[in-house]
Amino acid sequence: MGAIRPRRSALYVPGSNTRALEKGKELPVDVLIFDLEDAVAPDAKEEARATVLAALEKRASYGRRELVVRVNGLDTPWGYGDLSALARAGADALLLPKVESVDAVRRALAVLAAVGAPEDLPIWCMIETPLGVLRAEEIARHPRVSCLVMGTSDLTKDLHALHTRERLPMLVSLGICVLAARAAGIAILDGVHLDLSDDEGFAAACRQGRELGFDGKTLIHPKQIPVANAAFGPSPEELEQARRVLAAYRAARETGAGVAVVDGRLVEALHAREAERILALAAAIAERGA
Ligand code: COA
Ligand code: MG
Repeated sequence: MGAIRPRRSALYVPGSNTRALEKGKELPVDVLIFDLEDAVAPDAKEEARATVLAALEKRASYGRRELVVRVNGLDTPWGYGDLSALARAGADALLLPKVESVDAVRRALAVLAAVGAPEDLPIWCMIETPLGVLRAEEIARHPRVSCLVMGTSDLTKDLHALHTRERLPMLVSLGICVLAARAAGIAILDGVHLDLSDDEGFAAACRQGRELGFDGKTLIHPKQIPVANAAFGPSPEELEQARRVLAAYRAARETGAGVAVVDGRLVEALHAREAERILALAAAIAERGA
């Protein structure tokens, strides 16, 4: 696994919306997902592709934000053209929609290789169908796949489930995908919250995603960014606790003990490692100035 990269907030930006693409340069977001798929109408696909390519040419004006492009599937009229055009356009990763097998990843990689994409261009995969969830493990284990992204709207539809506040109908699928991502040592982002008027429900969904183990949340509107950043970044209390745990554990190790006690709670090597991860994430967030 590489260095920790904060992915608390990942905003979908419709590839056809030049105003929104411009706006992305000043938003306090970790990841921008330039979307050529669901957010773009069929008759605007070609123009959106050209608009996104133009935005990527100005890569530097997006600073440290991670730039990911969601392409259309290879089973659509635009998939091949998207992959060919974006192969060497300088995106940090390409996001494939509706991935249902590791073969879908291999097919996209074959196209990318044929058109001269960098051999290490990371692939992110949308998991948004029942079959995709059931095969999340093999998809996540492919060495070029570095992030899973939950597509909970499509998944809810395919499951014949309902959108509910507590997201109980989603929990099995979310849990399976977190297991797959963590087993493979890759990142995973939670699905979007569609109701922009429901601030409280959105904050609760962010907390739930953090509790489940997600690295961050995919977003549809800039106003959702600060809430996601706060929920998925370590809180001041978490940081303070991590520092104390690490200090106590290191002091114990110096005296030859393998465990310590902090506030009446046992601290072992695993707690020290988790504290180190939280501190490293906080350092990475501080470094990007957010
Ligand atoms: N990315 C970047 N900027 C965005 C944005 C986005 N996803 N959504 C809104 N903005 C910008 C607007 O351009 C506007 O900027 P301005 O005031 O500087 O001109 C500002 O944020 C406020 O936008 P607002 O007027 O509240 O929203 P809107 O009516 O312009 O757009 C949506 C509402 C839902 C259409 C829009 O947020 C959107 O397209 N979201 C993404 C949808 C998507 O990608 N879906 C597919 C994945 S699920
Ligand atoms: Mg979808």
